[in-house]
Amino acid sequence: MQVHELVARCAAAAERPEPMAAVREVLEGLRGDIAAIDSALAYISGTGGNANQVFYRAPNLTLLKVRFPAGRRTPPHDHGTWATILLLSGAEKNTLYRAADRALRKASEVTLAPGSILSMRADTAHVAECVGEQATIGLHVYGGDIFTLPRRMWHPQTLEAHALDWTLYENFARIASAAQGAPETRAPAGP
Ligand SMILES: [Fe+2]
Repeated sequence: MQVHELVARCAAAAERPEPMAAVREVLEGLRGDIAAIDSALAYISGTGGNANQVFYRAPNLTLLKVRFPAGRRTPPHDHGTWATILLLSGAEKNTLYRAADRALRKASEVTLAPGSILSMRADTAHVAECVGEQATIGLHVYGGDIFTLPRRMWHPQTLEAHALDWTLYENFARIASAAQGAPETRAPAGP
């Protein structure tokens, strides 16, 4: 597997009428090749900001290699578009939230193992965390240019919504990583 082959397959899928489903199908076909993908992406560090994660960027598609060291937990954030993760190594817990308005509502949790695929729609926010001793490495595919799309993040304690701002993000990530777990949200008011 070479990087240009991975890019070509994802870019072709992104042109299809249902790009999220088409990309998922591509990633499902790559589940048996995660060691080869991991080694093809060895030249990308995957930490220290998006510039060290991105290996393809277009108006309808961004491809990142994302590495979370042990103990790292993100603040709740969205992507401004759909997102799909293929986990390459480690164990990554994801807590998913509905983010229809500014308020978050916890929806579900899933722990990814190597070969697991997680798709998130544009109205889904998540917290990702590395569980266990080994760093997690994931191939992250997004249905737009996440460097320019309007995105949101939430304070890990107050759950106040903010526009995604990288100068604040790292501080939010530190607070999130020091917490016991991903934030809980209040159950919606009854009828
Ligand atoms: Fe994310």
